Amino acid sequence: MSDLTAKLSLSDGREFDLEIHKGTLGYDAVDVQVLSKNHLFTYDPGLMSTAMCKSEITYIDGDQGVLLHRGYPIHDLAQNADYLEVAYLLLYGERPTKEQRDAFNKQVRNHTLVHEQISRFFHGFRRDSHPMAVMCGVSGALAAFYHEALDIHNEEDRDLTAIRLLAKMPTLAAMCYKYSIGHPFMFPQNRLSYAGNFLYMMFATPCEPYEVNPVLEKAVNRIFILHADHEQNASTSTVRTAASSGANPFACIAAGIASLWGPAHGGANEACIKMLEEIGSVDRIPEFIERAKDKNDPFRLMGFGHRVYKNYDPRAKVMRETCHEVLQELGINNPLLEVAMELERIALTDQYFIERNLYPNVDFYSGIILKAIGIPVSMFTVIFALARTVGWISHWKEMYNTMGLKIVRPRQVYTGHTERAFEKLD
Ligand code: CMC
Repeated sequence: MSDLTAKLSLSDGREFDLEIHKGTLGYDAVDVQVLSKNHLFTYDPGLMSTAMCKSEITYIDGDQGVLLHRGYPIHDLAQNADYLEVAYLLLYGERPTKEQRDAFNKQVRNHTLVHEQISRFFHGFRRDSHPMAVMCGVSGALAAFYHEALDIHNEEDRDLTAIRLLAKMPTLAAMCYKYSIGHPFMFPQNRLSYAGNFLYMMFATPCEPYEVNPVLEKAVNRIFILHADHEQNASTSTVRTAASSGANPFACIAAGIASLWGPAHGGANEACIKMLEEIGSVDRIPEFIERAKDKNDPFRLMGFGHRVYKNYDPRAKVMRETCHEVLQELGINNPLLEVAMELERIALTDQYFIERNLYPNVDFYSGIILKAIGIPVSMFTVIFALARTVGWISHWKEMYNTMGLKIVRPRQVYTGHTERAFEKLD
């Protein structure tokens, strides 16, 4: 609790003393729960001034460009950790010991297969379906396989659900890709790392041996870490909201995937690479910068700006380094990287972008890396979804452990008709 106090006074004489909650870091939050009991609401479209919960998982300082998971800076985690170690940290609050890490990895490996019936779901989709549409469908379908026996009020069941989701998402994501190109699904290879196994399921075929390239494995591991969690963004708060009714967690994750798909959120990586391709060469950048500034043109510079970061997105910094590393190791001279770097340079010195604190975000460089690895553009957001699943499920677990089930039920300012008589049509 903070030493600060708050009082709300209305011109009709009503007054409310409001509590202030203080986190270990970051802004204070005025507790307005008393208002609804007194027939008043707060009005906050986009929930820009609303903290929907208390959380110990992730801290973001948008002004300074800081991102911490359980206190550890994202840069350190991305440089030094394995994705499953970060997953453990997010889920359980502390880094694992070596023994805990080995046991956790083994547990995840035990659940990488999906039920054979799941593979039949894929055949109901058109081959040219967007993989995110398929991912929404098949991840939601998992609910049909884990429902009756799952007691969400039991902590062990919740932990098992987290493991299942973590283990099966790469399998499902790779199946989305294989189905789209008409290749057979590849079973997971549990001798491989989490990132290596994903690459294997994506690119191996039954016809010849496949060796995981360690440079690509490292890059994918980093991309997964950089997308693992980002506190109460649209998809995470969607998962929390969906889960607050006690809904099946696999169905809640499907809701999160749906929310992530939009171009203002996870879909930005796909939109960003399409934009870089459309710009095509450095000499066309000024034209696109002008379009981005034109209020009458809906075009925005994709991969720029963030609701919370008003500084360089710390994930984008690591992504930028990784992008250079991958292209160098693969010996790829990608003209899109040249366009991206020049676009970044121009935007960062342009008054419009400076005044609005518009910096590159995580999606600005991730698409170039994924493309160099050979991952098709339509799969970019699927990869974001598989990496973010651990964030969603960590928040889901935290919600149960700390608040229990309290259904999310926002209110509204009604602006429609006042009551009127209904007259029957002749
Ligand atoms: N290009 C040009 N202008 C922009 C951009 C952009 N990318 N982003 C914001 N602006 C302008 C906007 O027009 C507005 O100008 P004005 O004040 O003159 O009306 C001002 O900046 C504030 O914009 P806003 O839409 O009120 O800001 P927001 O916090 O609601 O939106 C955002 C954040 C991420 C949706 C937005 O910056 C955007 O659309 N960016 C492009 C999409 C993108 O890259 N999204 C990925 C986000 S990071 C991945 C993730 O975490 O999901």
